[in-house]
Amino acid sequence: MGFYRDQLLPRFIDKACGTESVGRWRTRCLEGISGVVVEPGFGSGTNLPYYPPEVSKVYAIDPAVLGQQLAAERLAASPIDVEFVGLDGQRIPLDDNSCDAGVLTFTLCTIADPMAALSELRRVIKPGGALHFCEHGLAPDERLQAWQFRIDPVQKRLFDGCHVSRNHPELLTNAGFEIAWSDADFADGPKPWSYFHIGKAVQPA
Ligand SMILES: C[S@@+](CC[C@H](N)C(=O)[O-])C[C@H]1O[C@@H](n2cnc3c(N)ncnc32)[C@H](O)[C@@H]1O
Repeated sequence: MGFYRDQLLPRFIDKACGTESVGRWRTRCLEGISGVVVEPGFGSGTNLPYYPPEVSKVYAIDPAVLGQQLAAERLAASPIDVEFVGLDGQRIPLDDNSCDAGVLTFTLCTIADPMAALSELRRVIKPGGALHFCEHGLAPDERLQAWQFRIDPVQKRLFDGCHVSRNHPELLTNAGFEIAWSDADFADGPKPWSYFHIGKAVQPA
């Protein structure tokens, strides 16, 4: 898996997630975000062009270090100070209450222990701060869900742990976040992979 996971997969994700059509979801997801942001699953910086000017700093966390190279153009074009601070969203090397907001885009689907990552995000995001999310996940109708559960074992092997059947708003609520707003709809692409959960969850004050 080494060459595939470390070299090919980050390049594939950069292309697949860096499209204009996904960009429209990013714009909506990142609306209203400001200040110091923590972003587990920073990848190749696909969110950078969509951050509003009110964001001053992004703490980037991702195990795929090739992402930092693939992000070079986006980093150079962005006024935001990006600091790479770690490799694992399940163990965030930041102080308690050190961030105004968090971002998860197409990442909670992949993190092995999503509750551990969410508990870390609750620790580092200040009370009243927000976690902006956009993830592909569990579809509403049972026939499609059945396909998603069938696809998951193969998906996990091919895409380094990625699931298509996670219920992201439910995970966020179970972790203690309060959903300020959320929406879900089909994006472009094959249905099992393209039911997107988008929204903003708030760290209770
Ligand atoms: C599908 S990509 C999404 C990248 C980016 N967030 C985007 O929206 O295009 C999933 C990312 O999660 C990263 N990832 C996987 N496990 C992780 C973990 N435990 N902590 C932080 N990031 C992780 C992967 O390396 C990959 O860059």
